[in-house]
Amino acid sequence: MFFTLTIGKRLLVVFIALFLTACSEESTEIELAKNTIQDPSNPVLEVYKSPTCHCCGKWMEHLEKHGFQTIGQNINHLSALKSEKNIQPQYQSCHTAVSKEGYVFEGHIPAKYIQQFLQEKPDGAIGLAVPAMPLGSPGMEMGDDFDPYDILLLKADGSAEIYVRINAREEQYK
Ligand code: CU
Ligand code: CU
Repeated sequence: MFFTLTIGKRLLVVFIALFLTACSEESTEIELAKNTIQDPSNPVLEVYKSPTCHCCGKWMEHLEKHGFQTIGQNINHLSALKSEKNIQPQYQSCHTAVSKEGYVFEGHIPAKYIQQFLQEKPDGAIGLAVPAMPLGSPGMEMGDDFDPYDILLLKADGSAEIYVRINAREEQYK
């Protein structure tokens, strides 16, 4: 009797584990399916983020409204990815987007400057970054509140320079 109960409990644990796995796979599929309705000619960005980040999802919506397709990739070891992509700690934010060319777009960058960067492909640059999470940047909207911020051009040698200074909310949009 005791023996069968133990097996029963073990089976229950296995069953719950399978159920949880199925659940998380399902949510990834939903996220991908949602994105397939986008214009297929728009450039694709893979967005690496933590599963619980709300502002990351809002930034992805901003990108999709402004000419990109996004694929959300929920991962647990974001800092490992950021150091692998040569994004120095002082330039890091909540999410890291990667284009098909391998450029990185760190944080809440307005879509129009990602488009500008992808057209210019500046020499020696690996991508753009908006460090931390400035109030009023795309995905970080709080009413009319806005803190001016810099979009940084990230260089292959680990340094950065100011790409654009954003002084007002309207400058973020077309
Ligand atoms: Cu964020
Ligand atoms: Cu984010």
